[in-house]
Amino acid sequence: MVVVRLENLTKKFRDIVAVDNVSLEIKDKEFFVFLGPSGSGKSTTLNMIAGLEEPTSGYIYFDGQVVNDIPPEKRDVAMVFQTFALYPHLNAFDNIAFPLKVRKYPKNEIRNKVIQVADMLRIKYLLNKKPYEMSGGERQRVALARAIVREPRLFLLDEPLSNIDAKLRVYMRAELIRLQKDLKITTIYVTHDQVEAMTMADRVAVMNYGKVMQVGSPIEVFRKPANLFVAGFIGTPPMNFFECNLRTNDKNILECGYFNLSIDKNLADVIRQTSSSSELVLGIRPNELKVTSEKLSEDSFQSEVFAVENLGTDSIVNFKLGDNIYKAVVPGVIYYNFGQKIWITINKDAIHIFDKKTEKAII
Ligand SMILES: Nc1ncnc2c1ncn2[C@@H]1O[C@H](COP(=O)(O)OP(=O)(O)OP(=O)(O)O)[C@@H](O)[C@H]1O
Ligand SMILES: [Mg+2]
Repeated sequence: MVVVRLENLTKKFRDIVAVDNVSLEIKDKEFFVFLGPSGSGKSTTLNMIAGLEEPTSGYIYFDGQVVNDIPPEKRDVAMVFQTFALYPHLNAFDNIAFPLKVRKYPKNEIRNKVIQVADMLRIKYLLNKKPYEMSGGERQRVALARAIVREPRLFLLDEPLSNIDAKLRVYMRAELIRLQKDLKITTIYVTHDQVEAMTMADRVAVMNYGKVMQVGSPIEVFRKPANLFVAGFIGTPPMNFFECNLRTNDKNILECGYFNLSIDKNLADVIRQTSSSSELVLGIRPNELKVTSEKLSEDSFQSEVFAVENLGTDSIVNFKLGDNIYKAVVPGVIYYNFGQKIWITINKDAIHIFDKKTEKAII
C-alpha cells in the first residue's frame, strides 16, 4: 500500500560507506528482497527506510513524499528484526496486542484482531504462553503476528527466518509468501540466503559493499547476471569461472588455459566489440557441464575427479584443472574413483562471458 523510492541513498559510519549511492523503486504491494553477503549494507538500508538510521545523504520517498525527517513511529511501518524481541514478561496475546494498546484501540477490537492474526499464523494455541515457553519458530511467528496485527502500509523484515530450524524455515517461507499476497502490503525483506531470495521475491536487489549490483526478478538475476559478483553469488553450487582470451586471428576460439572452446562468429564479434580488452572470464553453471568417460565432442576436455558429492537425486562431481577445483552437477547417483580421468563438455548455449577488467557481463 505504498511505493518506496530510494534516491542516491548513502550512509557512512565514520570511514565506512555502509550504503553507497543506492537508487531504486519498490512497487506497491511488491515483495522486494535485499540480498547480499554479510556487511553489504542490507540492514542499514532497511533501518534508514524504517527511520532508525539517518541517511548521510540522499532521499527516501513514500508515495512520492520525502520521509527523511519523519520519525519512525509516524512512518506507519512494521519491522521484524533478525533477533526478534518479544516482551519476555508478556504472554503471546499481550505481545501481539501491544501495538494496538499503544494506539488505544478499544478492548474488544484488540481481542478480535489478535485472534484473527493468531488464526492466520496458526498460533492460537500459544496465546497464553510466555516467550520462554515457546520454541524459536513459535516466537518468530508471534513476532510476525505483532508486526502485522495493525496492517501497516509497509513491512520491513530483517532476516526473520534466520533463527529457525531448516525444516520450519522452508514451511515459513511459503507461509510468508501467502501472507504477503493475502494482505497486499508492500514488503521489504533482507536476507543473505539466496534460496530465500529466489523463492520469495517478486524482485531482488543484489548488494555488495553497500552498492546495488543488480535489480531484477529472481529468474532475471539467475539467467542474466549483470556482473561477476551476481553470477557467483546466485546459484548453488556456484557458477564455474575460467579466465580466457579470445584469440585474435580469424578462428573464433576462447583459450581458457586447460582447454579451448570454439564459439560462433557472431558471439566472437559481440565480444570484440564490447570488451575492454581480450581478457575475459567464461562462466558456466555446474548443471550445464556434461561428464563422460569418453570424449563427446571437439570441445570436450580431459580432467580428473577430485571428489564426488552424492545428494540423492543429483551428484556434484568436483574435477581438477591444474590447482583449481570446479563443479559439475549430474543427474542421479554416480561413482567415480578419486583421480579417475573424465571428459568434460560445456553446453555452449549456456555460457556467460564477462569482461575481466570491468567484471561486467558481455553475454
Ligand atoms: N552503527 C554502526 N557503526 C559503525 N559501522 C556500522 C554500524 N552499522 C553497520 N556498520 C557497518 O556497515 C556495514 C554494513 O552493515 P549492515 O549491518 O548494513 O550489513 P548487512 O548487509 O545487514 O550484514 P549482515 O548480513 O551481517 O546482517 C558493515 O561494514 C558494518 O560493519
Ligand atoms: Mg544485517
